[in-house]
Amino acid sequence: MTLYGVGLGPGDAGLVTVRGREVLEAADVVYSPGRLSRTVATEYVPESRIGDVDFPMTRDEEELRRAWKEAAAEIAPQAREGTVAFVTLGDPNVYSTFGHLRRTLAAFHPDVELETVPGVSAVSAFTTTLGVEIRAGSSLTLHEANGDLPTEPDQLVLFKVTDAPATHEQLVDAGYEVWYGRRLYMEQGETVVTDDPDELAERDYYTLAYAEKPDAGAEPATAAFETDVAGQTPTEVSSR
Ligand SMILES: C[S@@+](CC[C@H](N)C(=O)[O-])C[C@H]1O[C@@H](n2cnc3c(N)ncnc32)[C@H](O)[C@@H]1O
Repeated sequence: MTLYGVGLGPGDAGLVTVRGREVLEAADVVYSPGRLSRTVATEYVPESRIGDVDFPMTRDEEELRRAWKEAAAEIAPQAREGTVAFVTLGDPNVYSTFGHLRRTLAAFHPDVELETVPGVSAVSAFTTTLGVEIRAGSSLTLHEANGDLPTEPDQLVLFKVTDAPATHEQLVDAGYEVWYGRRLYMEQGETVVTDDPDELAERDYYTLAYAEKPDAGAEPATAAFETDVAGQTPTEVSSR
């Protein structure tokens, strides 16, 4: 049978896709790697069908590998016999725990069939919240907030912003304007959208940064119009 990696979206059960919901409802067991994903999954799956897998909060690679091997050894036999789902917040292919599981299964249990059900990533949740459009002709770079940050892209979305004031300093020094989003479309905790990093000084893992060079912004390739006077006839703008 099959192991489905199901993206749950940013944390609001209403943003689980129809396909994701169908897989959750049909699965014999639904594994959840964290409390928040579990809360979203239980909107569609009774507690009795939820299986937990534990991952230590450590950067020790040896310890993490051991935890992934144990999780894969627990999940693989179930996925051979029935339908199993492994849920992640956002999309399973964007900085996700599902990637670790997929690699561990490929190494130790290569006969397990895998399928991915995409979810609404925090990237889309954030650009929607800010009203930022990734337009034809523009490009966006995704990155984690730890370590050295890229300074070339016109637009950046940073994940795992755990020290907003320090991230802010790096980005402003590199010439960016920056906005932050915390717990977007999440049923738990307070949603914050701000350009002031001091409002986010208290650490919260579910924080993103969007950075843009002030002169960034490709002209839209089509459907660009200007209005001479508010409410009067728009005129076409040639962009290319
Ligand atoms: C391990 S990554 C998972 C990303 C996820 N797979 C996705 O596609 O959105 C966790 C990071 O995603 C971001 N994140 C996920 N959900 C979020 C939300 N609802 N609001 C703000 N940030 C979120 C945070 O930066 C967090 O540190």
